Amino acid sequence: MSLKAKALAQAGAHSSSHPRLSVLLLLPALIFLLVAAVEGAPENKGSGTLSSGGAKDPGVRGGAPGAGTPIAGLSSNQLAFFNAGLTNFEEIDSVTGSINNTGNGLGPRFNAESCAQCHAQPAVGGTSPSTNPQIADATDQGADNQVPSFITLNGPVREARFPYTFTGQVDGGVHDLFTITDRVDAPGCNIQQPNFTEAAQLGDLIFRIPTPLFGGGLIEEISDATILANMSSNQQQKHSLGIGGQPNTSANDGTITRFGWKAQNKSLEVFSGEAYNIEIGVTNELFNTERDQTPGCQFNATPEDATNFDLDGTALPSDVIRFKMFMTMLDQPTPGQSSPSTQRGAQDFTQIGCALCHTPSMTTGQSTISGLSNVQANLYSDLLLHHMGPNLADNVLQGAAAGDQFRTAPLWGLGQRIFFLHDGRTADLVQTIQAHASNGNRQYPSSEANGVVNNYNKLTTSQQQDLLNFLRSL
Ligand code: HEC
Ligand code: HEC
Repeated sequence: MSLKAKALAQAGAHSSSHPRLSVLLLLPALIFLLVAAVEGAPENKGSGTLSSGGAKDPGVRGGAPGAGTPIAGLSSNQLAFFNAGLTNFEEIDSVTGSINNTGNGLGPRFNAESCAQCHAQPAVGGTSPSTNPQIADATDQGADNQVPSFITLNGPVREARFPYTFTGQVDGGVHDLFTITDRVDAPGCNIQQPNFTEAAQLGDLIFRIPTPLFGGGLIEEISDATILANMSSNQQQKHSLGIGGQPNTSANDGTITRFGWKAQNKSLEVFSGEAYNIEIGVTNELFNTERDQTPGCQFNATPEDATNFDLDGTALPSDVIRFKMFMTMLDQPTPGQSSPSTQRGAQDFTQIGCALCHTPSMTTGQSTISGLSNVQANLYSDLLLHHMGPNLADNVLQGAAAGDQFRTAPLWGLGQRIFFLHDGRTADLVQTIQAHASNGNRQYPSSEANGVVNNYNKLTTSQQQDLLNFLRSL
């Protein structure tokens, strides 16, 4: 059976085995099975049912953004690079740079027109804003792109991946939403958008939303040894709850990779080069060929972003380096006010086992940028991959990460984040917690978080409320 056929069979088989079996059983056994099924399916105990009795996500924390500022202790030259990088990060790209003197190189295919359009909330460098800029991007400068059904004005910024090709081979790559066809700065280019409707019908479409970049420089400076020591800690407690965890690693140098939803990328610089080409379509010195080489849609020499040999200072390096410098020096978020409730919530977070994956802090090593040295990074992540069950699995393989494995999402800045989980399926923290749990199927094992979600469900309503208040204080 092809991989795609397997996946489709899987999707079809998803929830049918219990009901079919039960038809064959006598009434007492049926009642027993039903009770067992409810016990074993933590999703059934989410908000709105008896056991969680109404603890509510307090919603996005208001007030000033607790993020977006540079780390303390930068030299004036370093600060100049941070600011130059910020300017580039916000620059709207056009195809030939002819529109409003913007940067050039957009397309032929793209998901958005600048880094900051996607990394925006609650400040530049963050996550998806409340109004999705992809709607306006679709028709900017005369383009007539269809807006796919999974992109909505008040929904999250999304990019799409197809786990399999239409002929059933492993794919997994990003398929950009839009093309430059019919834009005023792309005369003669004529290419079609991917067929998202067909992909959706085949069950071969998954989404990723932007991860926040605050504190990225600190994440780079946490040593592999620190990550591995943390992995080996609290073994007994982890074991009793069913929590494992493994690093994703570079296939070439063997070190721990840590950026992206599956910890698939090694560094901010690699991510910059890749994002510039994948999200905006700008070729650069790290990713130097166009992803779509259709004649008639090539408007610039490559790489479109390059070292500016004739300039000086912060203007000399390529955009990719300037993006990297901005992100490297972007400080970790500042949490909101604590209260007796958030303090109790923080204790529960540790007690019930959330902190076994969402490690509250790790300390950086020695960096060439002194403001990044020996800093306590309050990231709430172990930076490891965990099996998260069929409910969250997206069937995409990245490095050592299997289709059901994800990096523990760092929770710093969570209080001001709008959309949650890799595909942005919910804006509600209660649903986010419940989505952590699912029982295994033929393809994937049970979620490593099942035991902890079970503990959460056993808390009283007021304890759950403390926990949610704590999460929104981050
Ligand atoms: C269309 C929206 C979009 C645009 C434009 C975009 N990104 Fe992202 N960014 C994403 C998504 C989605 C992810 C998560 C990708 C994944 O892991 O699958 C991400 C993740 C990242 C990460 C990883 C951070 C972490 O800790 O996981 C970095 C770094 C990053 N982007 C940098 C950039 C830079 C630099 C630019 C501009 C060149 C950019 N992005 C443009 C959507 C976008
Ligand atoms: C087994 C490890 C593990 C445990 C235990 C765990 N998490 Fe997570 N958490 C993850 C992973 C992995 C993700 C990302 C999953 C995805 O996006 O598909 C995540 C995502 C989240 C998110 C969404 C963050 C975002 O940016 O979208 C929140 C909130 C969260 N966890 C809170 C909690 C709370 C609260 C608990 C305890 C009740 C908990 N987690 C227990 C591994 C864990």
